[in-house]
Amino acid sequence: MKILSFFNNKGGVGKTTSLYHVGFKLEQMGYKVLFVDCDPQCNLTSHILEFDVIENAWSEEGKSIYDALKPIIKGAGDVKYIEPLKIEKRKIWIYPGDLLLSNYDSALSESWTQVLARQERGFRSTTAIYRLFTKFAEDKEIDYVLVDLGPNLGSLNRAMLLSCDNFFIPLIPDLFSLRGSQNLGATLVNWIEEWQDSIERIKVDFEFKLPQGNPEFSGYITSQFNEFRKRPVKAWQRWESEIPQYIRDYVYSPLAKKDLPLDIEKVEEELKIGQVKNYNSLIPLAQTALKPIFELTSKDGIIGDHHRYVKECSASYDELVNKIISKV
Ligand SMILES: Nc1ncnc2c1ncn2[C@@H]1O[C@H](COP(=O)(O)OP(=O)(O)OP(=O)(O)O)[C@@H](O)[C@H]1O
Ligand SMILES: [Mg+2]
Repeated sequence: MKILSFFNNKGGVGKTTSLYHVGFKLEQMGYKVLFVDCDPQCNLTSHILEFDVIENAWSEEGKSIYDALKPIIKGAGDVKYIEPLKIEKRKIWIYPGDLLLSNYDSALSESWTQVLARQERGFRSTTAIYRLFTKFAEDKEIDYVLVDLGPNLGSLNRAMLLSCDNFFIPLIPDLFSLRGSQNLGATLVNWIEEWQDSIERIKVDFEFKLPQGNPEFSGYITSQFNEFRKRPVKAWQRWESEIPQYIRDYVYSPLAKKDLPLDIEKVEEELKIGQVKNYNSLIPLAQTALKPIFELTSKDGIIGDHHRYVKECSASYDELVNKIISKV
């Protein structure tokens, strides 16, 4: 089992859309996939499930990820085991997101103080979602757990990133996306060091294995779907050309803890694992059909030239997913 996430503290860079397509492609290739929606915005959940199913999960006691966490949030016990929802006829499961996850995010900030003070409770709260999905994933022999995260450097993202085996950074070539990457590496290093130091010194024998806090940065993905911002081509070409430098200096180097033996020309070769195209009007069609773009058919409104884009999208995700598999 591999636990992966797409992360960037900059919003709207394609994290959720790409993760969703990667998950469905992995399943097409024969793998079992578990999505965990840890973004209180629930975008991933709404790409996958019908609204009535989501509403039902939120209203029926014991079905949402938030229900599982309630005892921890209330300080009244440990995480409660719940099963994720299964997508019919597919080997895809999802722990749906919940807007109330933001309450857990707040509670986790206090838990971190407890972790640093090596108090047992902090470790239980911080690892709650990790323990929830790993139990299911191990029982069901899931191959890939894909965790969707919101665009921030908050406590929930810290807990989830420390639980991941590998993470990837989607970026768009604009000033804000590059600026957002500047504090990524340093913040992650800080989290990793604090966590590893705390788990080394904690004296409690937990009945579960603590995540080791070793998320590996395994590459970045660029997208150009922000062309809608109508910036002149020259502007984004400039940002695009600066991406490798930013990735090397602000993400790869701090995490690799060495000044790079990696030449700037090699950054792209070794770390750029794909480029997502602008799928324009295919995106809303896919969202309406609750399908990935590469599974859309005429019945979903695909006409004329769009059939070619659907095929191209499939080939492009084949390539991206093969790269991901080779990296993790
Ligand atoms: N390849 C694409 N082509 C066209 N539009 C896209 C593409 N990928 C994503 N989008 C659109 O761009 C917007 C942002 O995408 P998405 O939600 O995947 O980003 P995100 O990084 O997960 O955002 P957030 O930080 O808010 O979670 C969405 O409206 C989505 O439909
Ligand atoms: Mg998102």
